[in-house]
Amino acid sequence: METAIKAINLTKRYGNFTAVDHINFEVYYGEVFAFLGPNGAGKTTTIKMLTTVTRPTEGTAIVGGYDVIKQPAKVREIIGVTPQEYTSDEDLTGWENLMLVAALYGIPKKEAKERAAELLDLVELSYAADRKVETYSGGMRRRLEIAMGLINRPIILFLDEPTLGLDAQTRAAIWDYVYRLRKQYGTTIFMTTHYLEEADRYAERIAIIDHGKILAIGTPKELKEKVGGDVITIEVSGDVNLARKVIEGIEGVTGVSVDGNTITFKVRNGNTAAPIILEALNKLSIRATSITIKEPTMDEVFLEFTGRRLRDEEGSSEDFMRFMRTIARARR
Ligand SMILES: Nc1ncnc2c1ncn2[C@@H]1O[C@H](COP(=O)(O)OP(=O)(O)OP(=O)(O)O)[C@@H](O)[C@H]1O
Ligand SMILES: [Mg+2]
Repeated sequence: METAIKAINLTKRYGNFTAVDHINFEVYYGEVFAFLGPNGAGKTTTIKMLTTVTRPTEGTAIVGGYDVIKQPAKVREIIGVTPQEYTSDEDLTGWENLMLVAALYGIPKKEAKERAAELLDLVELSYAADRKVETYSGGMRRRLEIAMGLINRPIILFLDEPTLGLDAQTRAAIWDYVYRLRKQYGTTIFMTTHYLEEADRYAERIAIIDHGKILAIGTPKELKEKVGGDVITIEVSGDVNLARKVIEGIEGVTGVSVDGNTITFKVRNGNTAAPIILEALNKLSIRATSITIKEPTMDEVFLEFTGRRLRDEEGSSEDFMRFMRTIARARR
């Protein structure tokens, strides 16, 4: 099957600085795919190339079957974009903003009205349709802009940090709309975020990007497995040293340590390994009095692949500053 997005050595240089460095990846139709990376990683630059806003220095990408360099107009017809920066006009109402975007796409008035009403309903903004955007909260504004990105019924929707600077509850609501529209229209979603927990929870597949390079790609589960899998802690009653030997002998077990009656180790998949281990212990009449299985967090995954931490909390004050700059820019 043809893939929705295929990046082939996609590269962007500004002077002698490489913002995006020969990246290769595929996004499948109907997928919710996320680029996860810190500030300056190259997320927006990638989106700009995929949406034909900026031309790759090297390599190319196929979006919806069209080459971004050779057929940019075709690409623009089938995509929707919600950029990182605010795009709605504060002096217009939500309804007027949608009608304006519809006019830019040349959608006939009657059709535009139908679509605008449907989209406002989808993002639960019908009640505020006739209010000026300047009265909207950050979350409402983001929802409106997602609706604006959908007015041309895109096959693929690009969302650049749709949840940046929003509180946890609003962020969850945004994801709810993303999934709703995927369900309703089958839209393929390409989005960026630098919230670890959010990517873990909501993205079906993740590409970790740092310094313009993709360092890992896969489902959250696959990425965690690559890091070395789950941590199992077993408390035993009986011969703890024998138990340790048994566990060490099981395939795929690494990093065994013992503390009193408690044995801790790593396995690729805790849920499938646990019964095997319990049975092996049981055969030697060693009883497990408790067992816990802990998945690695996305934080650990990120550290493993990038060699540094990316904490949601640490970003928050900086996010707020960026959010304010974005607003300031929109007000000009
Ligand atoms: N027009 C430009 N000219 C020069 N450098 C640029 C330009 N646009 C982006 N860059 C640089 O390229 C790098 C990647 O920027 P990009 O905006 O793609 O990052 P990002 O991952 O979207 O980060 P953020 O989380 O801040 O949005 C940064 O170092 C940025 O300063
Ligand atoms: Mg960006």
